[in-house]
Amino acid sequence: MNKRKFLIAGNWKMNGGPLEAAELLEGIKNSKKEISEEVDVLVCPPFVSLGMAVNYLYDSEVQVGAQNFYYEENGAFTGEISATMLAESGCNFVLVGHSERRQYFAETDETVNKKVVKALSEKLAPVICIGETLEQRKENIHFDLVSDQITAALKGITSNDALDTVVAYEPVWAIGTGETATPEQAQEMHKFIRQELEKIYDEETASAIRILYGGSMKPGNAKELLSQDDVDGGLIGGASLSAESFTEIISIAEELS
Ligand code: 13P
Repeated sequence: MNKRKFLIAGNWKMNGGPLEAAELLEGIKNSKKEISEEVDVLVCPPFVSLGMAVNYLYDSEVQVGAQNFYYEENGAFTGEISATMLAESGCNFVLVGHSERRQYFAETDETVNKKVVKALSEKLAPVICIGETLEQRKENIHFDLVSDQITAALKGITSNDALDTVVAYEPVWAIGTGETATPEQAQEMHKFIRQELEKIYDEETASAIRILYGGSMKPGNAKELLSQDDVDGGLIGGASLSAESFTEIISIAEELS
């Protein structure tokens, strides 16, 4: 099958202030002198390190994204950052609806949708994060849940705009736990998500949208996961904080391209 271009994305979460971020980016540049055009690479540092990362990576293929923003344009929203500000800072991507934001910061399907709409209007590609908890999987409601999440996130988004989105399937039980979905479990859910996208849009749109896997992806399991037909990359937490393991995953994606 004609697979989509891989996207290997590092979500640094609340790690990497400007000093640490500079070290990590230097490590990535040193251990990966050239990145194949066949693979897109993205790092998502915390807000305070975005400007530095954009400057540092100006001559590199590595792109910069943010981990969150607020969907209003501007105004009295103390502590928040707008999509316009992210675009102006040189970001091309932004994570939306990560499970940690849903769990700790009251992110809902509704706010996720507002953010997807806003990100697209600012030419930021939203990486829409979805995925079930262990309890939901045990209750066998994981497919319904994921279907609801993706449908809600894309409400009102045209197929043309949907092409600029990325979906990240991140089973909550596999995030930061060392436990990974098996390649079969990942493929099963990714295929399901693609079918849902086809229901919302059409086959052509669904087959063009990248669906990343996230949840304890590391060099040791990346090859098997990325080999699955509907796995188009990774959203990597812990393993993206080491230049060595992150670049190793990029190399694995290059080999599979
Ligand atoms: P880990 O790779 O640390 O499990 O985190 C995954 C994740 O949440 C990426 O967004």
